[in-house]
Amino acid sequence: MNSIEDPETSKPSWTSWRSHFESQRHRPLPMIRPCADMFEDHARELLIRSLGIFHLGECGEGRIVQQVRDAHLPGIDDDYRHSVGLFVREEGRHARMLQLMVRALDGDLARSNWTSRVFTVVRRLFGVRFKLLVLLVAEIIGLAFYGSLRRGLPHGSLRSAIGEMVRDERFHLEFHVEFFRTQATTTWSRLAYRSCLWSVGAGAATIALVDHARTMNAVGVRTPAVAKRIAGLLLAADRLVLSEPLVRTTSNPSTTAC
Ligand SMILES: [Fe+2]
Ligand SMILES: [Fe+2]
Repeated sequence: MNSIEDPETSKPSWTSWRSHFESQRHRPLPMIRPCADMFEDHARELLIRSLGIFHLGECGEGRIVQQVRDAHLPGIDDDYRHSVGLFVREEGRHARMLQLMVRALDGDLARSNWTSRVFTVVRRLFGVRFKLLVLLVAEIIGLAFYGSLRRGLPHGSLRSAIGEMVRDERFHLEFHVEFFRTQATTTWSRLAYRSCLWSVGAGAATIALVDHARTMNAVGVRTPAVAKRIAGLLLAADRLVLSEPLVRTTSNPSTTAC
């Protein structure tokens, strides 16, 4: 992952993140040509199903924007708050891209799915930091699946569009990692971050691997390879946040990162 940091302080530059998201916001939607005939019926139906489930996951959680605006968190400023709004818009753009992909495959969008309902319920369980951690995990899952799917698809506009989402998700993951570097500054908050990251990550990965295994197999991607990719990204998110030296310690267990 590339880092957007203030070179003077080594702290995240939320102004740079705001500029990054601003620079991306006016991109037109890609043209995705009809591609139903590139797949056998079974693979096409599985692809439609999986892309439809990803579409439900990408259909924004607009409430996080207001929650971040109202929250009093250390290490953030108005540029961060504005960036979160732009990040949610970018996820909305992904949802529209996935809608175009399903149409290009001659399919209909799923109206609901149990995995997206589980994701929504877990996301709303605790406070704003837990919600942002669930979004970080969602980036990891999305990055692993989109990246794996892209490898398995034939060359064409569908594959290119998924490649574009992979590039965005890399930035999103880094954005959330930068946020948690500003939150995990005490013994307890680092412990909370690590526990939440691995427990939510393991649960989300298991659900997603079960739900999309047949689709991955249909495009020639082995499920263990996707699992390995998720584990590598979880490890990176762990190390990148917790590699910072401890700033201060506290005996207050209520100070948590999620
Ligand atoms: Fe996305
Ligand atoms: Fe994302």
